[in-house]
Amino acid sequence: MIQFQALAQTYGTPLYVYDFDAMKEQFEALKVAFRGRKSILAYAVKANSNLSVIKHFAAQGSGADCVSIGEVRRALTAGVPKYRVIFSGVGKRDDEIREAIEHDILYINVESEGELGRVETIAKELNVKARISIRVNPNIDPKTHPYISTGLHDNKFGVEIDAAKRMYIHAKNSENLDAVGIHFHIGSQLTDLEPIYEAAVIVADLLRSLQAIDIELKFFDIGGGLGVRYDNETTITPYDYAQAILGALKGIDVTIICEPGRFLTANAGYFLTKVLYEKQNGTKRFVVVDGAMNDLIRPSLYNAYHRIEAIGKTSDMTPVDVVGPVCESGDFLAKNYPLPAMEHNDLLVVHSAGAYGFGMGSNYNTRGRCAEIAVENGEARIIRARETFDDLIALEREYL
Ligand code: LLP
Repeated sequence: MIQFQALAQTYGTPLYVYDFDAMKEQFEALKVAFRGRKSILAYAVKANSNLSVIKHFAAQGSGADCVSIGEVRRALTAGVPKYRVIFSGVGKRDDEIREAIEHDILYINVESEGELGRVETIAKELNVKARISIRVNPNIDPKTHPYISTGLHDNKFGVEIDAAKRMYIHAKNSENLDAVGIHFHIGSQLTDLEPIYEAAVIVADLLRSLQAIDIELKFFDIGGGLGVRYDNETTITPYDYAQAILGALKGIDVTIICEPGRFLTANAGYFLTKVLYEKQNGTKRFVVVDGAMNDLIRPSLYNAYHRIEAIGKTSDMTPVDVVGPVCESGDFLAKNYPLPAMEHNDLLVVHSAGAYGFGMGSNYNTRGRCAEIAVENGEARIIRARETFDDLIALEREYL
């Protein structure tokens, strides 16, 4: 049991708390599902990019899936071996491509024909062969929130099958490209296995047709996307997930790469916030808390549900909007959420906040970002200090 009250007292609120033991269990569960097959779990750094979190997964043998050169640097800084680092993303700058090649990471995941050209040119300038993979857009509806759906032609991600084929043929004939993998990722928070299986079948078929023309790839990268329970969703088990992928791949000898983010961190994270006031506008009840959309934007951005626990409160529950101090009507952590009567300084714990929580935070309204705490083997330690006003203005000029 995490001592939320004590942590709030020691470190103040708003606060992110991560259960490192729970993260480890999730990693193990996925690793076991792919046991007996050549596989790499490459943690999707964007889900929670704190260096200590990345280091924690690296210590368990994780690789890293990165979407900016900043994330690549984080992964390498945290100790992820370069041969397990992948660089994906729909728009990479030349300097990012150059640096990734210089770091000699596992591969760059290419998302357009234009980008393939840039990678080739830069590799030529550096006089090397750049390892690449191509992100295929299989045009499958993943049945998740439209903002986190990525595998339809309507989405900006990846290239269609025919373009991918052309790109692999181009790479085969290039002095400066070494195509080693194939990649797809159809969306996030997936709770339905069928679309994942369908996408895997389409991409595996492409892999077979490439083999037929003598293009051999080593890595089959299935992206991330495994959903978690925020409320009472039925989720996909790691076993069923792995079996579906292996089913699609039958007969093909490749290393499977999986890029889980949310699955590893979401339910291991908690966002702690204190009540400032209760108030009533007409018949509408509000609880105003010290945490806001700049700390945890998922409710505002996706209307996402996060379970909220009122620590030590037992009175009758009535629906309330839990809102923050930011000057936006869209600043809420929950709407019409059943909570007991709250008083100044009562503690609320927002669950499932370990993925896309802190990382999507901002300094809007000149609010410093929260501290982050790791709890491991019953011990708490600070892994990122609370931002101060001085931190916030450090890069500004001409004000004196
Ligand atoms: N690999 C690729 C290429 C991705 O684009 C993503 C996530 C992942 C792996 C990790 O997906 P996961 O296993 O975490 O589902 N901010 C949104 C989620 C955005 C996901 C973006 N891509 C949210 O808060 O729900």
